[in-house]
This record gives sequence, structure tokens and C-alpha cells, in this order.
Amino acid sequence: MAKKIVVIGTGYVGLPLAIMLARAGYEVIGADIEENVVDAINTGFLHLAEEDISKIYQEPNVRKNLRAQKTPCEADVFIISVPTPIDERKRVADLSQVTQAVESIVPYLRSGNLVIVESTVPPLTCRDIIAPIIEKSGLKIGKDVFLCHCPERILPGAVFEEIVNNDRIIGGMDRKAAEMSREIYASFVKGNLYLTDDVTAETVKLMENTYRDVNIALANEFAAVAEGLGIDILEAIRLANKHPRVKILKPGIGTGGHCIPVDPWFIKEVDPVNSRLIHTARLINDEVPVNIAAKIRQALKDIDNPKIVVLGLTYKPDTYDTRNSPAQKIVGLLKADGYRVSAYDPRVKGSQYSSIKEIAKDADALVVLVEHKAVRDELAKQEGEIKKAMRHPLILRFYHEASESE
Ligand SMILES: NC(=O)c1ccc[n+]([C@@H]2O[C@H](COP(=O)([O-])OP(=O)(O)OC[C@H]3O[C@@H](n4cnc5c(N)ncnc54)[C@H](O)[C@@H]3O)[C@@H](O)[C@H]2O)c1
Repeated sequence: MAKKIVVIGTGYVGLPLAIMLARAGYEVIGADIEENVVDAINTGFLHLAEEDISKIYQEPNVRKNLRAQKTPCEADVFIISVPTPIDERKRVADLSQVTQAVESIVPYLRSGNLVIVESTVPPLTCRDIIAPIIEKSGLKIGKDVFLCHCPERILPGAVFEEIVNNDRIIGGMDRKAAEMSREIYASFVKGNLYLTDDVTAETVKLMENTYRDVNIALANEFAAVAEGLGIDILEAIRLANKHPRVKILKPGIGTGGHCIPVDPWFIKEVDPVNSRLIHTARLINDEVPVNIAAKIRQALKDIDNPKIVVLGLTYKPDTYDTRNSPAQKIVGLLKADGYRVSAYDPRVKGSQYSSIKEIAKDADALVVLVEHKAVRDELAKQEGEIKKAMRHPLILRFYHEASESE
């Protein structure tokens, strides 16, 4: 059993991974360029939004086996989990943090090492970009050093459940790399481990999120068609889903999070000719927040200088994650138009409130963008009271009826 693992980048993905590996008995070093991240891990003052992971982190053997530092060091296994954002202008992957992270391990590589890339990357990144950097060490991939892509599928808010139980794809540049990686993941994953090659693994991860994006775009497009026809989209979807092989998703206010609005671009980047549907779906979903903001403006057109209270800032219900949130885009659009907007979210630190009735007091519109369960429950119980507290009793909700298509 390999003994020492360096996890480079200890954020949403790298930190839970480091904790699970430490729990499995490995000596784990979290290497992160951010001093406050390193200090938090070493001092035990971690502010993890994930309760289960927080508890595991406090287990004595995890605290004993895990420490952090700003630079990598010699080890048996290196796992790269640094961000791969999109270059907003070119809509291609910005791999600068990945290449820096790989460069940073080169001085510490030695024969027999395994390098695993967990960061989401465009197809061919492992063999065309990462392998040549590793080989600067003088060590040969597949002979001295083994390289694998093992994409992550965790859902923020359910990280412990998913990091343990999800099936995983392990894409080795060669069979030995995949077998070595399997041993690492088998130490804490209960889901199935599927071995394949690196390019397939890179592509599979992107296909998963693209599948979601395209299906959400289809639902959003159906919603626009239904609106033009004056029919109820949720009823139409519910009825269409009575077909045994149809499962249309619910429309929404746009896609967000770390993966869905980003990953499809990585496919387009490597094969634009064959990505027309993927590209169009991205454009459709990016446009939705603009259309929702227009609907809000339309609803408020007869109210002078309206006071708007927005409820929900995360990228989807029942998470704390606000990255790429369409709700935040909508708030930004309304503010840019000069509207008086105050925004709240029971799941987002700094945006919490005591009751909806309290924040809706004297408002002209309560715009519910993200329907966390707590929000739905409070609205169901208190709607009358909330409306009474408002200046205009206008509550705007988008596609909120519980439907069988959810
Ligand atoms: N967050 C998710 O839900 C999720 C799910 C699946 C896949 N992913 C993918 O996992 C990767 C990591 O995402 P994340 O959400 O954990 O990012 P994050 O921003 O939460 O954390 C990344 C960490 O890497 C550190 N870092 C950056 N450059 C570094 C370097 N050169 N050396 C050492 N540390 C460095 C940062 O300081 C940060 O702490 C991305 O490719 C992402 O697409 C994320």
C-alpha cells in the first residue's frame, strides 16, 4: 500500500478527498498556495459547509494523518485538484492553475510515483499537456511515473454521501496507472470503480454535465414555446412524461454551479464542428436569467420605484453553493437597471433572515428565485401573512408547482 499522498489544491474537491484518504490510513499532505487554507487545515479551524465531512475531519486519526503546507513534497502519489475555470472571453479551459500545479510537483517526482488528475479538463489534456510537463523530470510516463485521470462527481451539500457512494471512472494512460489508482480509491469508495483510458475518462466527465445542460436547455426552450402558446409548461411536461420513454426536466432560471455552465465548453473547444447542439444549449441556458429579469421588469412596470425583495441566491435549491448562480445574475441585472433590490437566502452566510414576512415588509414584490425546501414550506404556511405585510402583494415564482417531472 502506498503510504504518502500529496493532494495539490485543497478546496471543495481536494479537501474532502484529503480527509477521506487520511481516514483510510494514508499519510496525507494538502498542498495549497493559499496560506489561510493551509492554516485552517493545520489548526483545525476549518469552516466546512459540509457537516459530515467536518465531523470526520475531527476524528483523531484524520487529524494525525493530515497536515497542510504551501508547497508539495516527495510522496508516493500526487493528486491534482486545482480549479479549471473557463476563459470568459474565449470560452476555452483556463488550464494555468493545472499546469502550475503539475510544474510544482516536478522537482519531487521519483520513479514509481503515481499522478492522478481530479480537476475537470478538456479531452487530451493528460497526454498532450500534463504528460510532457511530468516528463521534464527526466522520468518517463508509463515506465517510471504513472498518470491517471479520475474525475470527481460530488454534489456540493452531499459531499460525504457522494464521495463514498458514487461510482468512479478511473482513466489510466496505461493499465498499470489505472490499477494503481484503483487501489487508492478502493480505500474509501463504496461505489463501483470502472477502469478505462485517460481520454475516455476526460470525455465521460464532460459528457455527464453536457447531458444535464442540453436537457435543461430543452426544458427551458419548451417553456418559451409554451409561454408563446399560452399553455402551462408544467402541465405539458407532466403529460409528456406519461410516455414510457420520455423524461423531460423542469425549466428553471438558468444553470449554475461549478460544472454545468462550464464543462460543455471544454467539448466544444476540442471539437467545435461536432458540438453544434452543445453550443446552442449553452447559449440558451445562459440567456435564461436575462429573460427572467425581463419578466420581473414586466411584472413591475406599473409600480413606481418598486422595492424588490429577492429570495434565493444559490445556483439551485437546497445547496449553499453560489458559484455561477443565475439568481445572482438576475439580481445583478435588476440592480444595474436601477431597481432597489435586497436579496436573501437562508442557506447563504451573510444573507440569512429571521422570517420571510419580516424581509418582505413594505416590499412591492417578493421574487422567489431559488425554492429551498425551507422557503417552500414557509411560503406554503405564511403566504397570506407575507402578502399582508407587503406594500403590493406581488409574489413572483418561477415554475414552482410540485410536478411529477421533478
Ligand atoms: N466543486 C465541485 O463541486 C466539483 C465537482 C466536480 C469536479 N470539480 C473540479 O475539481 C477541480 C477543483 O475544483 P474545486 O471546486 O475544488 O476548486 P476550489 O476553488 O474550491 O479549490 C481549489 C484549491 O486549489 C488551490 N490552488 C490553486 N492553484 C494551486 C496550485 N498551483 N498549487 C496548489 N494549490 C492551488 C486554491 O488555492 C484552492 O484552495 C476543478 O477542475 C473543478 O472543475 C469540482
